[in-house]
Amino acid sequence: MKKMGDFAFIKIDFKVERIKRTLYECTYVQKGASSYMDKIKTGLIGLNSLLNGGINRNSITVVIGAAGSGKTTFATQFLRRGLERGNDGLFISLDENKEQLITEAREMGWYNISDHIESESLIFIDANGKNFSEFVREELPNFVAEWAGSNTRIVIDPLTPIIWANEDRYTQRELLMLLFKEIKKIGTSVCTLEEHGISGDLSGSETFIPMYLSDSIVHLRFVRNDSFTQRQMEILKCRNSKHSNRSHFFRIIKGFGIVIESNGKKGIKKEITTKNIPKILEADLEDRLSGIPSSAKERIQQSLARLDDKDFENINLTYLIDRILEDYSD
Ligand SMILES: Nc1ncnc2c1ncn2[C@@H]1O[C@H](COP(=O)(O)OP(=O)(O)O)[C@@H](O)[C@H]1O
Ligand SMILES: [Mg+2]
Repeated sequence: MKKMGDFAFIKIDFKVERIKRTLYECTYVQKGASSYMDKIKTGLIGLNSLLNGGINRNSITVVIGAAGSGKTTFATQFLRRGLERGNDGLFISLDENKEQLITEAREMGWYNISDHIESESLIFIDANGKNFSEFVREELPNFVAEWAGSNTRIVIDPLTPIIWANEDRYTQRELLMLLFKEIKKIGTSVCTLEEHGISGDLSGSETFIPMYLSDSIVHLRFVRNDSFTQRQMEILKCRNSKHSNRSHFFRIIKGFGIVIESNGKKGIKKEITTKNIPKILEADLEDRLSGIPSSAKERIQQSLARLDDKDFENINLTYLIDRILEDYSD
């Protein structure tokens, strides 16, 4: 595990010094024209195939959605997947503190999150209220030099305050370009973005600029009917990949996290409170899922005791097991 150096840089007073931009930085354009992309697994059950195999390695994915749409769940699940396979994780929070994140992650069934923090494979940075602009301009390049090539999974949750830190659109864009360019050297990032106002109107500069500069965009939405609310996910962009163009319903299931519902496959429809499905899955864990990482197995096992058939409504079990196996197939 590479040490973070002294991340007290967030606390110190920054020198107000204009960054010397090279011509390369001014004219920076996204690379990645090759037809074959190096993909990493997302950790979200059923998402890899919608992204033509997974998230592009060393890319920036923006997950946009309203409050409660599942952005933080998406981001933590992505980090967890890397940690389960021995990669490091960096969680930069501009919203919640470490304790809140740990509590919520445990609540969602990630019981051993503290082990990763203690072993420093997961670094949590509370950047709430800090001058992130100056950090990006003056400290980030040094930090990146130390961490470059480490294949870390990085989360910035949410990106929105970083954009709000500057009123001027040109400065917003310039800062984000620099941030994205630098963190790509460390690894693969998921940045969340708050959606305000009318759902689906993504034309404001605070959403448009990061969406434009990112490699992939995932939009999370609520679909409200008279009697219930369903969650939907749509891939708006995934560079150099033949991605899904459809809306996909998804559920959040404790211990599993975000699970994309299978299209056209019949799931459980009735109001059921029996525990048949958790029992079947328990048996599958010993049988078909025996090869997944032991920490993932334990997480699912512990959650199954608290779940019942209703939690798996619309989820086809064969599909669920197949998609979990697929996510751990590397
Ligand atoms: N234990 C749980 N089981 C199922 N769903 C949960 C659980 N905890 C939280 N959720 C769902 O996840 C949502 C919060 O998702 P979150 O990722 O924090 O949203 P965002 O970051 O977009 O605001 C809640 O609205 C809730 O419906
Ligand atoms: Mg959140």
